[in-house]
Amino acid sequence: MGSKVFVTGANGRVGQRLVAALVAAGDQVTGLARSADKAREVEALGAACLVGDLSSRDVLEQGLDGAEVVYHLAGGLRGPGPQQTPDLVNRAGMQGLLDAVDRVGTGSLNSLVFTSTCAVYGDRSGLVVGEDMPPQPDTRYGKSKVAAEQLLAAACDERGVPGRIVRLAAVYGPGFPFMLADQIAAGTARLPGEGRNYVPTIHIDDAVTGLRAVAGGGVDGAIYNLADRAPLTLRDFYAEVHRHVGGAPVRFFSTWIPSYVQEALARTNERVASRLGRHPRLTPDNLKLFRASARMRVDRIEQELSMEWAWPSAREGLADVLAPR
Ligand SMILES: NC(=O)c1ccc[n+]([C@@H]2O[C@H](COP(=O)([O-])OP(=O)(O)OC[C@H]3O[C@@H](n4cnc5c(N)ncnc54)[C@H](OP(=O)(O)O)[C@@H]3O)[C@@H](O)[C@H]2O)c1
Repeated sequence: MGSKVFVTGANGRVGQRLVAALVAAGDQVTGLARSADKAREVEALGAACLVGDLSSRDVLEQGLDGAEVVYHLAGGLRGPGPQQTPDLVNRAGMQGLLDAVDRVGTGSLNSLVFTSTCAVYGDRSGLVVGEDMPPQPDTRYGKSKVAAEQLLAAACDERGVPGRIVRLAAVYGPGFPFMLADQIAAGTARLPGEGRNYVPTIHIDDAVTGLRAVAGGGVDGAIYNLADRAPLTLRDFYAEVHRHVGGAPVRFFSTWIPSYVQEALARTNERVASRLGRHPRLTPDNLKLFRASARMRVDRIEQELSMEWAWPSAREGLADVLAPR
């Protein structure tokens, strides 16, 4: 018999694939989504879905009631409006969830898995970073995820919440915008930096495998890096996408737009897009995230939880995602 599972951010890109895998494995899944339309997408996967957000006290209590496993995926770089800062979405969101856990109690709960990010490490000039190295976030997104990690770690230490942190690499897979597949095919892909930096990546199927492994066998209070085993530079990653989809290679613009101009454009773009209630694409955080270089050690998840990658390198994974069927 499967477990009773609550998934926040269930209609998101990772959420949908995770929910589908859990339902297929026989779990009884309830998602959280922010609108009735988004909830219907989750229900179409065979799960129940509550409508609300991370400040909806009653809805969170309902989702947590009797849950054995919680995947806390809701969050991200920032939301669409001016109020949806990374701090609100990630740190305050975690606080809202933990407050609800405190009200409901941890009686039935075996694990609460939080999707943090490789961005907590910041730019390490290509260094291989392990989970025990202190985070050095240099973006608002990375800082807000560190703050959320700290809230969960404190709840684990002080109140016995079975929290586990997964520092997730950039996820690629069908429909994931990180691949820039449409822009590369159309010959319009542009990115900051020079592309010589390492950005940890992972295929969505392996991301789901890793999240489930941490929920099932992880240690309370532990942190697990989750990336593939053969990090590529950004330039090599996108060259691989280009090889499959055609079009034109990504053009890296640091060589022809001075960085102070890039920063000014990104700040203005974020301000204007947020005021219009849109999801800003070019932001000061995005500039830094695309220029940062770090590789993640994955020995812990491999050795402690016997993680097996279907796609250990993005070269193989992208072939799976992008090869014509
Ligand atoms: N994808 C990656 O490459 C990657 C890498 C590292 C870490 N992560 C983390 O993994 C998680 C899932 O990523 P994803 O790619 O699936 O992101 P996504 O597609 O943007 O989905 C994010 C989900 O979180 C929900 N959400 C955001 N703010 C919320 C709030 N205040 N209350 C309730 N729900 C809220 C969104 O709802 P709406 O649809 O209504 O906006 C959506 O369901 C995120 O926390 C992200 O930071 C992702």
